[in-house]
Formats: sequence, structure tokens, C-alpha cells
Amino acid sequence: HRTAAVIPAAGRGVRLGPGAPKALRALGGTPMLVHAVRAMARSRAVSLVVVVAPPDGATEVRHLLDEHPLPGGTPGGSWGRTDVLVVPGGETRQESVRAGLDALPADVTSVLIHDAARPLVPVETVDSVVEAVRDGAPAVVPALPLADTVKEVEPGRPGEPEPVLGTPERARLRAVQTPQGFDLKTLLHAHETIAVSGEGATDDAGMVERTGVTVVVVPGHEEAFKVTRPLDLVLAEAVLARRRA
Ligand code: CTP
Ligand code: MG
Repeated sequence: HRTAAVIPAAGRGVRLGPGAPKALRALGGTPMLVHAVRAMARSRAVSLVVVVAPPDGATEVRHLLDEHPLPGGTPGGSWGRTDVLVVPGGETRQESVRAGLDALPADVTSVLIHDAARPLVPVETVDSVVEAVRDGAPAVVPALPLADTVKEVEPGRPGEPEPVLGTPERARLRAVQTPQGFDLKTLLHAHETIAVSGEGATDDAGMVERTGVTVVVVPGHEEAFKVTRPLDLVLAEAVLARRRA
């Protein structure tokens, strides 16, 4: 009964602005992806990490990981007790996740899907997701209550005022993070039925929900935020500096 982590890292990071693919951008002098791999490898439950690299960047990513071993690993590629595979990704996040799932060996029974763009997730959050899956939940997402009130609108043209359709009760809303944890068969079934139907989903659990399986939420962590825009990088640098202080 083995747990693996798949890290989709194949996005370009358009919203972060021009530069290298987002996962390869430096955070505290170390590529964001390396932080994300270390965050997964820190969990004792995770024995394999599959990194999904930009479609033309798998070789570069392999070198990068070999240059940045886990603390306790040895230079030249040892990540201690954690194996790290690198596979090329696809055009969409969903395709990239699928490429990672396809690379898993047969003895893997549960999987974490973790965005490279959430490099600072604490190991306690990873462990609580793993624990909930091992306790029998087929799909688990870490999430936090919202600070902002959320409105549903009728999307209009850019710059035009948009009519509000409603205000969901904030206390019932959660902002979801990663790693999201799954019984592997449940997630593969969702990919086979939902992706093939041409429907998309903005997270992995969303696909599983559509197959009728109940997804559960465990507490997320404020440091598991996603680096999306330039201001997020400023926050990530500050969090890292605070940890090192
Ligand atoms: N991702 C991926 N393959 C894609 C698109 C996204 O593996 N074709 C990954 C990203 O690398 C990231 C995660 O999915 O780790 C979450 O996506 P997001 O934050 O949207 O990253 P990007 O797609 O890179 O950013 P943007 O949407 O601003 O271009
Ligand atoms: Mg994206």
C-alpha cells in the first residue's frame, strides 16, 4: 500500500509575467519546484514523487532536481528514501496530471496531486490529507474558510459593470488547496469518464465529484497558498525568510 505524489509543474505561469516557466522560477534562490518536491518528500508516507515537467523541459527538470538533493540526500540525485521520476506534461493541467498518473508503478494505491505552484505547504497539511485517505476517504481536499465575501455575477465585457446574481453564504464556502489526496482507482476512474466526456474541472477533486463520489475537506494551511501573480511571490519570499529567521 504505497502513496505517491504527482506534481503538475508543466504550466507556463502567464499570470506571473514574463520569464522562465513558473515552476522553475527561484524562491529564496531555489526553484519553486524543488521546494514543492521537498514538501512532499518530507512526509514519511510519500515514497515516490512524479514531477510533470513542461512538455519540452523534462531533461532540464531532471538535471535541476539532481542538483538540488533533499537535505539528507546526496548530491547527484539521491532524495533519501523518496524516488523522484520526471515525465513531460501536456497543454492543460488535466492532461499533465494524467501523464503523471500514467507513470505510476503498479504497487501505488493512493496518490496526492500537488501543484508545483504551492511550494510552501507544511508537512502537517500533507500528512493530514494522507491520513484521511488511509482512513478510508476516497477523495480529500485541504481547504480554508474565505476572508472575502463572494458574489456570483453575470460575466460581462471587460471593464463593464457586471450584474450580481447572488451571494452564497460565506460560512459554507471553502477555498481549496493542494495536495489533494485520492484512492488511485477512484481518481483514474474520474479521469477515464469525465476527461473523455470533454468536460473540464479546475481541480482534481472536481472531476471525482462528478462521478458521484463524496469528497471531504480537511483543514488547509495559509502557507499552502498558490503562487499565481507577482504579489504572491513577494509573500512567498517573506514566508521563507520568516522560516529561516
Ligand atoms: N500545470 C501543468 N500543466 C499545464 C498547466 C498547469 O502541470 N498545462 C500546473 C502548473 O505548473 C501549476 C499547477 O498546474 O503547478 C496550477 O496551475 P496554475 O497555477 O494555473 O499555473 P500555470 O498554468 O503555470 O499559470 P497561469 O495559469 O498563470 O499560466
Ligand atoms: Mg493555469
